[in-house]
Amino acid sequence: MEILVIEEIALGYVIKDLISHFYPNSKPKKFVEVFSGGGTGKDVAIELGITNSIHLDLINGWDALTDEIPTGADFVFSHPPYWDIIKYQYQRNSYHQNDLSNKMSYEEFINKLNMVNEKIYHSLILGGRHVTLIGDIRKNGKYYSILKDMKWFGDLESHIIKIQHNCLSDNKIYSNHSFIPIKHEHILVFRKDKIWVFSIKVTESKKDNIMNITNITWRDLIQATLEFLNNKATVDDIYEILRKSKKAKNNHHVREKIRQILNKSTNFYKEKEYWYLKLC
Ligand SMILES: C[S@@+](CC[C@H](N)C(=O)[O-])C[C@H]1O[C@@H](n2cnc3c(N)ncnc32)[C@H](O)[C@@H]1O
Repeated sequence: MEILVIEEIALGYVIKDLISHFYPNSKPKKFVEVFSGGGTGKDVAIELGITNSIHLDLINGWDALTDEIPTGADFVFSHPPYWDIIKYQYQRNSYHQNDLSNKMSYEEFINKLNMVNEKIYHSLILGGRHVTLIGDIRKNGKYYSILKDMKWFGDLESHIIKIQHNCLSDNKIYSNHSFIPIKHEHILVFRKDKIWVFSIKVTESKKDNIMNITNITWRDLIQATLEFLNNKATVDDIYEILRKSKKAKNNHHVREKIRQILNKSTNFYKEKEYWYLKLC
């Protein structure tokens, strides 16, 4: 697996470069483009003399959720919507219930995208590639990495970063400038190398509580306790909280341990009987 960075170039050149890179001496046997939109991929196919390419989108009446991916492709390029950030019904001038850019929850979008990506992968012939262009997004101040949240079908052959200087967000004026603008998109290349067996990569997100783990230092537990107690606590206050922690279950001298860490660590200081966190 390699990570390449390519400077901003028009999408047509990206598709052309990818085809030329992966098929240097021949054309793909069959090039299928899913979410083909305005026809960039078709222009590339014509330029490269690929005569059996297929370009599929709601624009030409093909629905990625319900229709089959044409069989026999060794190169599928897909450029799915960016959740509902850009609503393609306005570009098509028609609403479609299965448009992946309709207003929906992020989970629903990811599930639908997973369905399409799995269909694409299984439609490939052996040795075929699914190349997908994916953008991360920020919505209501929250960062969403579609790339990480979607399932990966097949083995990753390449991860290319496409630099994006002219973004939709460049025209927006934000009251809060504290975030880093998204100036890149991802191109993932998946290759099908086995007929029956396929890899699926799933990102798992979960929440845990530091009171329930042992892989944490006493210093960090005491820091959290002081923050919880508005940065002013006696040894007894800290003990009352931390005696219930999982880490305390393995220690018969918790109060002594807390006192030892408070005295030894430069992170804490004492005034009268109260302990404080040194914040700088
Ligand atoms: C990011 S755009 C693709 C742009 C394209 N690469 C181009 O150069 O114009 C995403 C496309 O997905 C299409 N789309 C959304 N949901 C779809 C679905 N269920 N089936 C087929 N196409 C869909 C939209 O109509 C839109 O054209």
